[in-house]
Amino acid sequence: MEYDYAYFQKSADYILDRAGFIPEVAVILGSCLGPFAQRIADPVVIDYKDIPNFLVSTVSSHAGKLILGTVAGKKVVCMSGRFHTYEGYDFEQLVIPIRVFQCLGVKATVLTNAAGAINTDYRPGDVMIIKDHIKLTGASPLRGRNLEEFGPRFFDISRMYTPALRALALSCAEGSGLRVHEGVYFFFTGPQFETPAEIRAARILGGDAAGMSTVTEALTAAHCGMPLLGLSVMVNMAAGVLDTPISDAEVDRTAAMIAGAFSDYVEKIIGRMDV
Ligand code: HPA
Repeated sequence: MEYDYAYFQKSADYILDRAGFIPEVAVILGSCLGPFAQRIADPVVIDYKDIPNFLVSTVSSHAGKLILGTVAGKKVVCMSGRFHTYEGYDFEQLVIPIRVFQCLGVKATVLTNAAGAINTDYRPGDVMIIKDHIKLTGASPLRGRNLEEFGPRFFDISRMYTPALRALALSCAEGSGLRVHEGVYFFFTGPQFETPAEIRAARILGGDAAGMSTVTEALTAAHCGMPLLGLSVMVNMAAGVLDTPISDAEVDRTAAMIAGAFSDYVEKIIGRMDV
């Protein structure tokens, strides 16, 4: 399916009508990072299924709700639950959330995710500010007819993870109680975790964390020139780093353990954003 500008504007009009204000910052919450949503003051909660032309989450740990309100003095729109290619969505469909944010008028986006640590200096519970990514699989979400209203056909992505926001996130790490790194996110399509050989290959290629999300949204944001911050929470060591299989229970446990400190960290960053 090919979309036109009006397709995304229709979702945005519905959201603006329900919320009654234009959000400044968009936040997408990764798997198990949902507790951040409780930080949003005066929330207006909209089910994805009620938004025209939007998608629905099929992952049980994703709430499937858009929450608009205030965090640290900034108006935010927050997706509690995101969409992944492993759910069966085409890459072309995965442009929808960011394009709707752009139509809403947001000034910056924060993408968060849970990831596996490829870098053996990292530990579960660490945070990685994404400085770059590697995506060797799948098409681009920007494939197909280009919508000039959002951006040009060909576009530079060498600084897509906005340097000023990375610097801000680094400066906010102090006093957060978190171990915060800057590193490279290696995209895998999932839903299976990777093989140990894939993780060894990713490490040789320069990957620090493995994950199944974020990159499609990041590319869509880069296309429309939206300032972008990506944050990965290490919820497990990637396949083969340890001698034990990756368990979903371990992933959930680490995410639950880190949710409070991570939410504080994201709140502090949003509060200091110059939007
Ligand atoms: N690999 C890919 N995605 C993930 C992982 C992982 O090890 N952990 C959480 N999301």
